[in-house]
Amino acid sequence: MKAELVYEGKAKKVYRSKSAKDQLILSYKNDATAFNGKKKASFMGKGRLNNEISARIFPYLHEHRIKSHFIERLNETEQLVYETKIIPLEVVVRNLATGSIVKRLGFEEKTPFNPPLIELFYKNDDLDDPLINDDHALLLTDITYKELNEIKAKALEINTALRELFQSINLELIDFKLEFGRLQDGMIVLSDEVSPDTCRLWDRTTSEKMDKDVFRQGIGDLVEVYEEILQRLEARS
Ligand code: C5P
Repeated sequence: MKAELVYEGKAKKVYRSKSAKDQLILSYKNDATAFNGKKKASFMGKGRLNNEISARIFPYLHEHRIKSHFIERLNETEQLVYETKIIPLEVVVRNLATGSIVKRLGFEEKTPFNPPLIELFYKNDDLDDPLINDDHALLLTDITYKELNEIKAKALEINTALRELFQSINLELIDFKLEFGRLQDGMIVLSDEVSPDTCRLWDRTTSEKMDKDVFRQGIGDLVEVYEEILQRLEARS
């Protein structure tokens, strides 16, 4: 079903599907990178876990009227998606202050953001994904002002749905990053992945970090933690 490799990113390979020309196969890799690729490692089983976790999250979001590129899980490490033209924006939603916003703006750790805070970053490795404002986003991408506002509204809807999902498995959604892409007909949908690589998740009982910060900060076993998330999601359904 797979044809040529279209693109290889830090965490996924993208192949063109042989059966439909507007569909791609995402193959999740075992590699983990942090700090824009400056820290790298490979973890046996990570690709499977992120594939399995995101293949549960996208259908959950579909049930909550969030359209995405996701079509179906194909096997342990691969999923079928619609091809989109990725909009080079990283849309970050924050419920509690931690990570870069603490360093950048001096917020105290765990300051709650109510309403949740949205930040836009320009997806550009050479520039280290800088924080940008709305006007920059309109200049740097092909989206309109109306579409930018729709993306932000969608990001907040996704936050509400994901917070509920994670709360139901005793995890607090602290923050996360989304990417959006344009389908062939022009419609903008959620793309890329939603996984513990792209979300900060803290156990609601122990406050233990259960996401890629485990790798970024070298504070535990990434595979064990991701496995625990998958098991909680499986137990839920
Ligand atoms: O590092 P920062 O605090 O800005 O990250 C905010 C959220 O976005 C975190 O959940 C992090 O995992 C995610 N993120 C990501 N990919 C990036 C940058 C941040 O998934 N390139």
